[in-house]
Amino acid sequence: MTKHLAVLISGSGSNLQAIIDAIAAGRLDAQIVVVVSNRREAFGLTRAEQAGIPTLYFPLKPYKESARSREQYDADLAAQVATYAPDLIVLAGWMHVLSPSFLDRFPGRVLNLHPALPGQFAGTHAIPAAYAAFQQGEIDHTGVMVHWVVPQVDAGPVLASVAVPIYPDDSLDDLETRMHQAEHRLLVEALAQIDR
Ligand code: GRF
Repeated sequence: MTKHLAVLISGSGSNLQAIIDAIAAGRLDAQIVVVVSNRREAFGLTRAEQAGIPTLYFPLKPYKESARSREQYDADLAAQVATYAPDLIVLAGWMHVLSPSFLDRFPGRVLNLHPALPGQFAGTHAIPAAYAAFQQGEIDHTGVMVHWVVPQVDAGPVLASVAVPIYPDDSLDDLETRMHQAEHRLLVEALAQIDR
């Protein structure tokens, strides 16, 4: 059954593009029903428009400026997303932590892509953190995971993960590039294995 996806982004949307390309190539039986960004300048919105996918720009700032709570933002965001009737919500570079006000609207249906292995380097800057840990000799590889989202950041049940090697002569850019390539593959594979 074709899965209807709502994809939430904050940045360049290269992972969104991986989903768009997989669907176009017939490698993923899904339809992206909306792309949501909290940042107007996110290039991912352009990618969605170029692919003819509906977009929703939903910034947090107006809530902060009018003393409305983060929970109110999350609840209103969930109500907006729900109008597109998604089967799955995919956080692909979405940089806000979502509270139960959002998550409770889509129980067991929110996935997050995180550029680290389970239990390692939660939060933002996971790739530089892994690079630094490698330089300190603390790890000899890192990885990427797709997990079900729970209120604790980057900590829900893992749907899929893959190790990503780090080499002694890697620059941070080399690792970033290798990690994003792994993300693009893993995200599509993880979505393809969900049969709902
Ligand atoms: C990815 O590394 C994702 O794992 C992280 O933010 C980045 C988003 O990249 N949360 P893009 O916007 O999909 O290119």
